[in-house]
Formats: sequence, C-alpha cells, structure tokens
Amino acid sequence: MSSESPEFIHPTSAAAAFGKKPSSSDSPEFIHPTPAVAAFDEQPSPHGDLTSVLISKEQLASRIAQMGADITQDYADKNPLLIGVLKGAVYFMTDLTRRIDCPLTMDFMAVSSYGDAHRSSGVVRIIKDLNEPVTDRHVIILEDILDTGLTLKYLARNFHGRGAASIAIATLLLKEGTQAVPLDVQYVGFTIPDAFVVGYGLDYAQHYRNLPYIGILKPALYAE
Ligand code: IMP
Repeated sequence: MSSESPEFIHPTSAAAAFGKKPSSSDSPEFIHPTPAVAAFDEQPSPHGDLTSVLISKEQLASRIAQMGADITQDYADKNPLLIGVLKGAVYFMTDLTRRIDCPLTMDFMAVSSYGDAHRSSGVVRIIKDLNEPVTDRHVIILEDILDTGLTLKYLARNFHGRGAASIAIATLLLKEGTQAVPLDVQYVGFTIPDAFVVGYGLDYAQHYRNLPYIGILKPALYAE
C-alpha cells in the first residue's frame, strides 16, 4: 500500500489501532483510548422492537463531551473541517461540535454503501458531495458507526486524493471484530459488540433514528 495513503496502512483489526500512532507524517498524531465494552450495562428496553438499550442518553452525552474536549485540545490552532456522513452522523455531529471549543467549519457528505439489509456491500456511491474544498484542510470525518470500515476507508482515500492536509476519523461506535479493512481511527465513542444497533441517528430501513439512546434491534426484525 502506498506510503502516501495516510489512514489505512496498519493493523488488520481497527481495534488494534488504538493506542498506537499513525505511521504517516501527515496524519494527526493522536489516538484516544475507548471505553471498554464491559464499561456499560445493557438496560431493559422501553421500545418493543429492541432487545435492550446498549448506551443511554446520559452515557452518550458524557462520552461525547469527552471526545469534544479531546478534539479541542488536538485541533486548537488547526481550524478543522468536520465532515459528517449523512444521515447517521447528524445527531453525533450536532452534539459533538457543541462540545468543541475552537474554530471549525462543517460540511456533509452522503454515501450509500449498503447492499443488503444490515451489512455493507463494500460498494460506496456518493449521493451528496461536499460544498467546501478539502484542499489543505485538516479534515475530521464524523461517522455514526464503523462496521466493516469500507465506507470510511473510501472516504479517507477520497479526501486524501483531494489534497487534505490531514485526515482523522471520529466514530461514535466501533463494532468489535467486524472490520474488513485496516484503518486508523483517532476518536471512538464506544466499542460495542457485533449486534445491529439503532437510535441516535442510526437506522434500520430509515426508522429508529430519533430514539435518544442506542439499542439493539431484535434480530427477528431484519432476519430474512
Ligand atoms: P461500514 O462501511 O461497514 O463500516 O458501514 C458503515 C455504515 O453502515 C454506517 O454508517 C451505517 O450506516 C451502517 N451500519 C453498520 N452497522 C450498523 C448498525 O448496527 N446499525 C445501523 N447502521 C449500521
């Protein structure tokens, strides 16, 4: 893999990338630790389509505040461009950016990467492109969940090709052990088990995005 590709050179598991620094000189030099899966308990679900609540709204708020503080520290003088991946990252983006206390700009990208009901196809299609150029900007890609990593890999490569000064990834959730491609991720909200989750922006067939917490969808609802 080219040494000019900053973000996706390293380990076979994204989880293994945490705690180490990216090897490329133009990558941001910070990777923050992630709360362990066992750090939060599943709560009974108030919604009939969920087996349980995995992350409460209080846990989301507290972790996102910490992520905002980390980004503030790392990007104080960099005027970063935060790029939200529509639609799932919208709640994460609006809450996170209000916890970042330094100048920044925002843009959005919409991509489609789903071939079947609940796992990426690997084919990424741009549905809505950026309004701002990324050239010479310090980009932070905001994603709701990193599953196979194919979407973020595509986006990181794409922005690198457009001349971004650096590219970092902030994902609210990282599914443990499902990554199909190596990827360095600088900010992770929570590492979660390999289950299909909804709420706080995450959907199944466009539903459940507005739940204020993240819950596990009953498998019977998408098994077919
Ligand atoms: P990846 O390319 O496999 O990493 O997939 C990332 C995208 O897949 C996310 O932005 C979501 O849209 C979707 N996705 C992956 N896992 C889930 C899930 O558990 N719930 C809802 N959407 C998911």
